[in-house]
Amino acid sequence: MHNTRNHVLSIDQGTTSSRAIVFDDQAAEKAVFRKEFHQYYPTPGWVEHDVEEIWRDVVSVCKETIYKAGGVDRIASIGITNQRETIVVWDRITHTTVYNAIVWQDRRTAERCEAMKKEGLEPIVQQKTGLLLDPYFSASKLAWILDNVPNVRERAEKGELAAGTIDCFLLWKLTNGQVHATDITNASRTLLFNIHEEEWDDDLLRLFNIPRAILPKVHPNSHIYGETHPTLFGRSIPIAGMAGDQQSAMIGQTCFKPGMVKSTYGTGCFMLLNTGDEAVNSENRLLTTIAYQINGVRHYALEGSIFVAGAGIKWLRDGLGLITYAAQTHDMATRIPNNGGVYMVPAFVGMGAPYWMPDAKGMICGLTLDSTAAHVARAALESIAYQTYDLENQFKKEAGGNTETVRVDGGAAANEWFCQFLADILDIKVERPVQLETTALGAAFLAGLATEVWPDLAALEKTWKIGSVFEPKMKQPERNQLLAGWKDAVARTLLPHQ
Ligand code: G3P
Repeated sequence: MHNTRNHVLSIDQGTTSSRAIVFDDQAAEKAVFRKEFHQYYPTPGWVEHDVEEIWRDVVSVCKETIYKAGGVDRIASIGITNQRETIVVWDRITHTTVYNAIVWQDRRTAERCEAMKKEGLEPIVQQKTGLLLDPYFSASKLAWILDNVPNVRERAEKGELAAGTIDCFLLWKLTNGQVHATDITNASRTLLFNIHEEEWDDDLLRLFNIPRAILPKVHPNSHIYGETHPTLFGRSIPIAGMAGDQQSAMIGQTCFKPGMVKSTYGTGCFMLLNTGDEAVNSENRLLTTIAYQINGVRHYALEGSIFVAGAGIKWLRDGLGLITYAAQTHDMATRIPNNGGVYMVPAFVGMGAPYWMPDAKGMICGLTLDSTAAHVARAALESIAYQTYDLENQFKKEAGGNTETVRVDGGAAANEWFCQFLADILDIKVERPVQLETTALGAAFLAGLATEVWPDLAALEKTWKIGSVFEPKMKQPERNQLLAGWKDAVARTLLPHQ
């Protein structure tokens, strides 16, 4: 009999928007809805989200998408993918949060991390988690909530409160408080999870003073986590896949073989290299992270994390009012013959890999009287490629990191000019699939694997379709000159502030 429940609903809860996409068993997109939500910046360097708003948006985009895709009876399962590291604490009885979510971009705990580094704690943290002592990760943010919000530590110790990343919070809400769990990739970004032993680590919990009772259970990525409460979408649907958005994009790009690389351009840019069953310890300030655990097979990745990619384009729109929509940057960049010596270092929330400078501030340099809006827009786009180059350069130094091709996805990957410039600057082939929403697709794959929509990874690989290939064309001297300009701009940004 033909399986009519052959669609999967994917919830992609990102840093600036929440979207829902329904895919069929050919991995074709049947319907999509998205909503941008508010960003709260209570003080410079702080970034928060109202998760009640996120929850309302998620429910509404899911409902609209399910309806447009032909109704709930077609949906076999739900996959969740999310902005990683962002942390929420809520009451187990009332389901209300004790504080806004503290977002991965938030730098309020920079000093605490710096102090821990000075105590010589980074090597042990890196050895256990594959990460570095940076405010980017969840642990210091969770500790901040416990230490600064009245009564929270006491209530957490009594077991009244639950904590988790956004996947975990959504799972809790979707199951109406029945399930407090997260997946192994999100856990591996908290700075509390031992990626070799696959468990919350007592030493790390002690170091950050986090009560174990507040943390969720950890499961593999393709797993029946629970069922949605029947009143939400008309019937109970299994939630059968969860992964952090960058790992999910890697799965959506079907980068299942060691050596394969993907780079996703969302709010930030995250480049991941599949290193197979080996957790490669980076010597070059890259991160070691769990890529996925599916059907008992666990793969690791090396990751380069750039904090600002699309966020720089959003700033051109919302901060400067230079553009009204992101795609305009394509025409602006092509309108001028070169960058005119203008560079932007988008260190709006410090710098991530390979610099790890939480206090760095953004900069535009090289302006002259003939610089125009187009130069600034182009500088913002170029900065995304240069930052990717900085990562790629580090990858080359790692074992097995000699990349020949990178698979790209996410918003900026739709920009032809950007993809060509990226291939030119990296001097490697850039492959762009037909489906650019690979983050959402990855979560759908995970849920579909657990609910018989797809039998195995080989079936997923068959759905990956190449859209365009960008071959490097730029001559070496031009490339060198551009990279020298970028290096100079970065050096200025990293100068100690007066
Ligand atoms: O680690 C942060 C990352 O998960 C955010 O992803 O898609 O919002 O740029 P994105």
